[in-house]
Amino acid sequence: MKAAIYPGSFDPVTFGHLDIIKRSAEIFDEIIVSVLDNKTKSPLFSVEERVTMLKEAVKDIPNVKVDSFRGLLIDYAKEKNIHVAVRGLRAITDFEYELQIAQTNHVLSKGRLDTMFLTTTLEYAYLSSSSVKEIASFNGDISGCVPKFIADLIYDKYRILNQESNEL
Ligand code: PNS
Repeated sequence: MKAAIYPGSFDPVTFGHLDIIKRSAEIFDEIIVSVLDNKTKSPLFSVEERVTMLKEAVKDIPNVKVDSFRGLLIDYAKEKNIHVAVRGLRAITDFEYELQIAQTNHVLSKGRLDTMFLTTTLEYAYLSSSSVKEIASFNGDISGCVPKFIADLIYDKYRILNQESNEL
């Protein structure tokens, strides 16, 4: 069975990520979408919230599982006995960053972990989790960026955060 990991922050998952998930699920027998639990970043959503959102968003794709991991991707991949990581490429700016990570992982894993890149569908090439958050924080329209149930959760989050900052 050919399996791959799609690692990322997914804070939150966007239509761009979902496009990569759907297309890679057609190439591999199994895709494990795994949320990085990174204590140094301050995400909008907790790891548990991101995992729950992802599970709901991919529930109709039977060969996709959702998980989370801490530490190095190569260690997680070894534990799962998986040799391929999938990443999406939107533009040349992604390429430099992604190339460095992919090469680092290849060297660190002594050739055990390869990275396969899928180019994002043009329709979603401009999308990023950070821009979605920024638009939502100013009550802008994110209906073209994330599924409706996720958009509602993002707006709710900012409503709570704004309330908390007004109370201070
Ligand atoms: O969605 P993101 O934030 O661009 O995803 C980045 C991610 C999670 C793929 C990358 O930061 C990662 O794999 N981090 C785990 C730590 C690691 O293995 N680092 C070594 C490569 S530099």
